[in-house]
Amino acid sequence: MREGTVTLVRREDYLAPAFRIRSVDLCFDLEPAKTLVSSKLLIERDAQAAPQPLRLHGEGLTLLRVLANGESVSFRHEDGMLVIDHPPEGESFLLEIRNSCCPEKNTELSGLYTSGNGFFTQCEAEGFRRITYFLDRPDVMAVYTVTLRADKAKYPVLLSNGNLVEQGELAAGRHYAKWHDPFPKPSYLFALVAADLVAREQKIRTRSGREHLLQVFVRRGDLDKTEHAMNSLIASVVWDEARFGLPLDLERFMIVAVEDFNMGAMENKGLNIFNTKFVLASPATATDIDFFGVESVVAHEYFHNWTGNRITCRDWFQLSLKEGLTVYRDQEFSMDMSGGASARAVRRIEDVRQLRAAQFPEDAGPMAHPVRPDSYAEINNFYTATVYDKGAEVVRMMATLVGREGFRQGMSLYFARHDGQAVTCDDFAQAIADANPDSALSVRLDAFKRWYAQAGTPAVTARGSYDAEGRRYTLTLQQRCAPSPGQPVKQPFVIPVAMGLLAGDGTSLALQLEGEDNPGATSRVLVLEQPQQSWVFVNVDAAPVPSLLRGFSAPVTLDDGLTDAERLVLLAHDSDAFNRWESGQKLALSRLCAAASGQAPAQLDDAFVEAMRAVLHHPGLDASFKELVLQLPSEGYVAEQLAVVDPQQVHAVRESMRRQLAERLHADWAAIYEQLATHEAYEPSVAQAGRRALANLALSMLCLHAQRSGDPVWPGRAYQRFKDATNMTERLGALSALVESHAELAEPALAKFHALFRNDALVLDKWFALQARAPEQEGRVFARVKALMKHPDFSLRNPNRARSLLFSLTMFNPAAFHRADAAGYVFWAERVMEIDAMNPQLAARLARVMDRWRKLAEPYRGAAREAIARVAAKPDLSSDVREIVTRALADDAVEAAAAP
Ligand code: TRP
Ligand code: ZN
Repeated sequence: MREGTVTLVRREDYLAPAFRIRSVDLCFDLEPAKTLVSSKLLIERDAQAAPQPLRLHGEGLTLLRVLANGESVSFRHEDGMLVIDHPPEGESFLLEIRNSCCPEKNTELSGLYTSGNGFFTQCEAEGFRRITYFLDRPDVMAVYTVTLRADKAKYPVLLSNGNLVEQGELAAGRHYAKWHDPFPKPSYLFALVAADLVAREQKIRTRSGREHLLQVFVRRGDLDKTEHAMNSLIASVVWDEARFGLPLDLERFMIVAVEDFNMGAMENKGLNIFNTKFVLASPATATDIDFFGVESVVAHEYFHNWTGNRITCRDWFQLSLKEGLTVYRDQEFSMDMSGGASARAVRRIEDVRQLRAAQFPEDAGPMAHPVRPDSYAEINNFYTATVYDKGAEVVRMMATLVGREGFRQGMSLYFARHDGQAVTCDDFAQAIADANPDSALSVRLDAFKRWYAQAGTPAVTARGSYDAEGRRYTLTLQQRCAPSPGQPVKQPFVIPVAMGLLAGDGTSLALQLEGEDNPGATSRVLVLEQPQQSWVFVNVDAAPVPSLLRGFSAPVTLDDGLTDAERLVLLAHDSDAFNRWESGQKLALSRLCAAASGQAPAQLDDAFVEAMRAVLHHPGLDASFKELVLQLPSEGYVAEQLAVVDPQQVHAVRESMRRQLAERLHADWAAIYEQLATHEAYEPSVAQAGRRALANLALSMLCLHAQRSGDPVWPGRAYQRFKDATNMTERLGALSALVESHAELAEPALAKFHALFRNDALVLDKWFALQARAPEQEGRVFARVKALMKHPDFSLRNPNRARSLLFSLTMFNPAAFHRADAAGYVFWAERVMEIDAMNPQLAARLARVMDRWRKLAEPYRGAAREAIARVAAKPDLSSDVREIVTRALADDAVEAAAAP
């Protein structure tokens, strides 16, 4: 909807629907230029509600006819709605609507659109109204029967939700298929596909003995890249039944891959539609990270079948009800799939890195909002890291507070109470608490639910003091939370702090709190719920080193006040792998921040370098874990810690430290690289992926060193590895090492890479992204991105391709983007406006890269503001982009204070 001002939808304005749609009979005559939709709705009046007009959503449609109970009825259009002032009397009536829409002109990729030579739909959140007139809200659930008619040669496959009940031939080379979905569902879960596709199929028998057909549909030629998606789907079905007792409730479960897609994938009932990026994977074309992405997105969408589809959201403010919970579930699945304790820790570290990279900045910037937002202008803007990833952390904290078994029982109660309903976040929390009446959650449920209501990342400060005489250790925790837009003052949060104490030699201490009879386990959960609380540990022989927030038990920042020496003890000995990694990151972060803010030289001290060397050679640590420890915190994460950010300075400092690690650990990197050489058959396991990741890091370090020393050996080896690689992880790793430090070899390698993969869209995305993410040198990377915009393989219409170039530059290459001459910002503003004219959802995502402009040092800050203002001044902006730029410029956009 295009409009000049931002109109807000408010959570407190929720009203239950006065009309419900019990069943829908849809019939589609599919043509790219003009698709005819005929819809028969059985509508029921809520007996409680006052008599009122029926208002149906509809957007960009051509209305052809409306009949009520078979008779013509008067209607009007108002505020983008179809209004029937006098629907037939009585409890229920039949409404028949005919309309048309134009799939081939639908560049927004919301509603019914064409991609390649097929038809696809995307209805979440409010896309169904772009297909036909409807009560397009999640608390209106109907039973769908859908008939598709289309040219048989062009569109041999016709799919919709549920079960195929009929199919056959029609005149003039057309055919039809009729589908029936027995589960009542909200319109956002409707889907149809009509295309020339082929399927990998698998029959499975689940615990109950029921047979199911699983299908993964892709374009001809892609079938050999669907094995991993199918395996991931089967594993997801098995896992949900085993872990939560949730079986597959459908005879047929379909996944369809489509090249043009705004997000990762969509959980439409029985007919999930996926971005090709999260379906197609073969060792030659996909990296380990891609394989992992397929597994986790397949799982995520499958898990929605219960958490999202069987129980859905009452309104869109409750989005985290399904998204936070489903992310939590897919994270747990991925951990269970990955194997042992250390592989699980690696997964957890990756999830937390993601949270810190995306959600923490969001929570501290102009778009900060609670996990359950209070208002929005455009719901598409609220598919955010906060709703997804912080929402998952909130669910994880509940699980921590009630325990694993308690959480499972809470889930069972949730389904017993609410299956088939559209409910709220409160309903979920209540079910978990009620199933665990004596738990640490239930006794403080109201306070705990502030996690849903209050935005902002709480900052926890921890200080310990040791009393040698009394052999007591007192730990004092404080919390505060900076203001966020619309929320000047916050109530204290309920923060589970998993913790342990280490002796100076690194051994774990049995924990005994004052008042307890005996020492207990070496790890426990303290619940911080006041602004400040203290805990006294007794029978402590010497000053301990506290290991706090183990496993990242709450989404907070932690100032633990520890010395370098104490951090080194944790890095070397902590039994909690997450905190072991975290200690290394904190050591690195304090050095990066001190240098970036001019308080210290960018010179790495021996203690730090030696600690990194010890990790690299540690016999008991996995390669994947080593790789995570040896990676310096990202420029973005460093920037978040600083009050004022000079992106060029942050980049220079981090690059300098990276070089020092390359140089001072040169022999170690070489030894590690040789050790990791194997000839094992490719497998996307955590163990193998970890070894490849560490080898890639070593190679890039060795090439970086060679750039200085002029030694041609390592660049030569990298080029060889690039040419001979048998999998994409190694090929791309070697190419990336060359692009980073050896332009003369990178150029021919890039050309060769393009020639090899010119017909594989997902690999071309990598080719574009790699060039846009290369370390900036004298503006060459920025110039290259501009040139690549004109490459024959580039297009802004395909979201993956647009992201590969533009998001890589603006989100992942601060030094190339934040230019003193403001050219990066000008380029950004032009692209936001250009994309907005065709795909507002995508444009709004790009618009958000400027969220943190207020933190920038001059001249960046002023130039950034000007660029945002330029976008905001455009009269015909989408409501999506308008909301983002308006909030970015708003005077009340409170900035959270930077950590010390
Ligand atoms: N519900 C989807 C998921 O969790 C994501 C989604 C929401 C989406 N809106 C979308 C996907 C629009 C594509 C386009 O995975
Ligand atoms: Zn989801």
